[in-house]
Amino acid sequence: MPAVAMSNAGSNGAKEFEGKITIYVVICGVIAATGGLMFGYDIGISGGVTSMDDFLEEFFPVVYERKHKAKEDNYCKYDNQGLQLFTSSLYLAALVSSFVASKLCTKHGRRLTMQAASVFFLVGVVLNAAARNIAMLIIGRILLGVGVGFANQAVPLFLSEIAPVHIRGALNILFQLDVTIGIFVANIVNYFVSNIHPWGWRLALGLAGVPATMLCLGSMVIAETPTSLIEREQLMEGLAVLKKIRGTDNVNAEYEEILHACEMARQVKQPFRNLMKRSSRPQLVIAIAMQVFQQFTGINAIMFYAPVLFQTIGFKNDASLLSAVITGIVNVLSTVVSVVLVDKLGRRFLLLEACGQMLITQVAIGGVLLVNLKSTNELEHGVAIWVVVLVCLYVSSFAWSWGPLGWLIPSETFPLATRTAGYAFAVSSNMLFTFVIAQAFLSMMCHLRAGIFFFFAAWIVVMGLFVIFLLPETKNVPIDEMSERVWKRHWFWKRFMDEEEQHKKESV
Ligand code: BGC
Repeated sequence: MPAVAMSNAGSNGAKEFEGKITIYVVICGVIAATGGLMFGYDIGISGGVTSMDDFLEEFFPVVYERKHKAKEDNYCKYDNQGLQLFTSSLYLAALVSSFVASKLCTKHGRRLTMQAASVFFLVGVVLNAAARNIAMLIIGRILLGVGVGFANQAVPLFLSEIAPVHIRGALNILFQLDVTIGIFVANIVNYFVSNIHPWGWRLALGLAGVPATMLCLGSMVIAETPTSLIEREQLMEGLAVLKKIRGTDNVNAEYEEILHACEMARQVKQPFRNLMKRSSRPQLVIAIAMQVFQQFTGINAIMFYAPVLFQTIGFKNDASLLSAVITGIVNVLSTVVSVVLVDKLGRRFLLLEACGQMLITQVAIGGVLLVNLKSTNELEHGVAIWVVVLVCLYVSSFAWSWGPLGWLIPSETFPLATRTAGYAFAVSSNMLFTFVIAQAFLSMMCHLRAGIFFFFAAWIVVMGLFVIFLLPETKNVPIDEMSERVWKRHWFWKRFMDEEEQHKKESV
């Protein structure tokens, strides 16, 4: 029996789309999501590599020496701009390239953009694994960044567009699930290669080629999204793909809606300029805010620097990498929770629950470190275990909320006319603030010490209020009906939409 995508139809005039969850749509989703593996592997690997002695000795001898001086300040021993630049140069490149990717996505489709992503990434991997000097390292990182910018632009959009409405959240979160699997695998790789001297770090960086190859090959077999085909006037092919991914010939309602969205999009010649109009303000603000807030949860302070952080609080090399592996498992499993719940409990519920859990755990971690970790002592074993437990509780709440929803919500709220352009702002905001945190965290830790956790906790209060008052629920609303059913009905955002309507009427 076909599953009907329930969209509160009837009561508000929305159409019902017939559509099964076909094996084909799931396979396309799983393959495209491998783009998330590249991103995740990279997040996990850079923290590990930058805490490996062989790597530091070869490229950052100053940090290496400081690390091995017995009495170096606990909170400051890794504070080095060059080292931070290694981690964060990738994000600058991704920031810029997401705008290029947005154009490519519109003109040549989501699939080709994914293929381009994997090729850039592969070249970056080769340079990194073979690096003989800092220039090769940084240029390699920049190419990886271009790959990440392209993939993070194309993959979540692809997933949101192919998904039947009632599982759009779950399918989209496959991307974040792969991000977390990538981080986890990287943590395990870090753990094993740290004992391979002196080239373990080369292996760690080189293995990033595996997910890129998967995406490269995978993207050759998946379908393009019907929306992208129809947008590029390949109507028959678009219709055929729609029938195939929905597992039924009865796709007229959805096809008509995509056609309509494409017509509207065609009238918009300059998507980026259109984004600056008042009527795009709600989606744009939400998309950017979701990503900025995602980064101000402080998650990457943990993700990039987990091994460094655990060493800072007194774990030995292996123990700290092992703790990072534990947080990696928690991250993956908690993302599965989100896949299961996001289309049932809704986006807002998950975000708000997580704000509470993250607030409590951040304050607790800050408190424990404030009391127990001075400049040159080590944490007692029992206290250190508590810190790891708190970090796990913190990571789990991020993983079922701001992690996946930071990508999902911006990918489902824009009308087609501004979708790829608007999403580019979301991706680049993520990259910008990931860069800021990556670049600043080690220095902030050196200056704010345990207070850094209170800094992030304060942000969590702000984002909780933002969700309560300004974030509308998008669960079960068809992607091309957001304007009518979400923005025009929201107590605050509707004024932006009303004025646009008014403007249209006046100009007729
Ligand atoms: C974020 C990353 C973060 C990761 C952790 C992603 O959604 O964009 O910055 O490191 O989640 O799982």
